[in-house]
Amino acid sequence: MQMVNITIDNCKIQVPANYTVLEAARQANIDIPTLCFLKDINEVGACRMCVVEVKGARSLQAACVYPVSEGLEVYTQTPAVREARKVTLELILSNHEKKCLTCVRSENCELQRLAKDLNVKDIRFEGETSNLPIDDLSPSVVRDPNKCVLCRRCVSMCKNIQSVGAIEVTERGFRTTVSTAFNKPLSEVPCVNCGQCINVCPVGALREKDDIEKVWDALANPELHVLVQTAPAVRVA
Ligand code: FES
Repeated sequence: MQMVNITIDNCKIQVPANYTVLEAARQANIDIPTLCFLKDINEVGACRMCVVEVKGARSLQAACVYPVSEGLEVYTQTPAVREARKVTLELILSNHEKKCLTCVRSENCELQRLAKDLNVKDIRFEGETSNLPIDDLSPSVVRDPNKCVLCRRCVSMCKNIQSVGAIEVTERGFRTTVSTAFNKPLSEVPCVNCGQCINVCPVGALREKDDIEKVWDALANPELHVLVQTAPAVRVA
């Protein structure tokens, strides 16, 4: 295997030539925060939480998609890097429904953990916030777009791994959402209720429907035949 010599935070390491900076840093036990990244499932460089300084590059680079090369010099904890990550996180949080106490992912939420790690205590940015309807018509999955961080992990899982394609990124800019074709409920698109989208969601935007919610649905609609195929969990990196 071809190897290259690189330097991360003044630490010289040798890594396979097909690695990204993130993979190289992980090999050297150097922590770089990530949000959208999910090895082999979602490597799209969408969230920019993993930015680093690369010597010679004009701007900060996303470590999860930046390839290593011979002699590369990377810095993961400069003031500019830390500030960029913090601002990015605050911008995500500024349009995130912050009902953490009642969220099913509280204490197990990647966004919460990042806010703690990056010492985000106040959100400096205020403005328009999304107020989108919750889709709870599926027999198995509840989708709350107001908690979505647009990481696209669920889209990659549904489309590329499960070969279903029930959900997709729609609209652009501030209106960007992860939704279904024509914004239909999950119950009206070819969702197979595998639940893999829930397994990869870093926050509480997708969650399993509680048993009690299924009972209420069944009572409201006696014709409803609930079929939930619970697929084996995938490991979330
Ligand atoms: Fe690298 Fe999201 S983790 S861009």
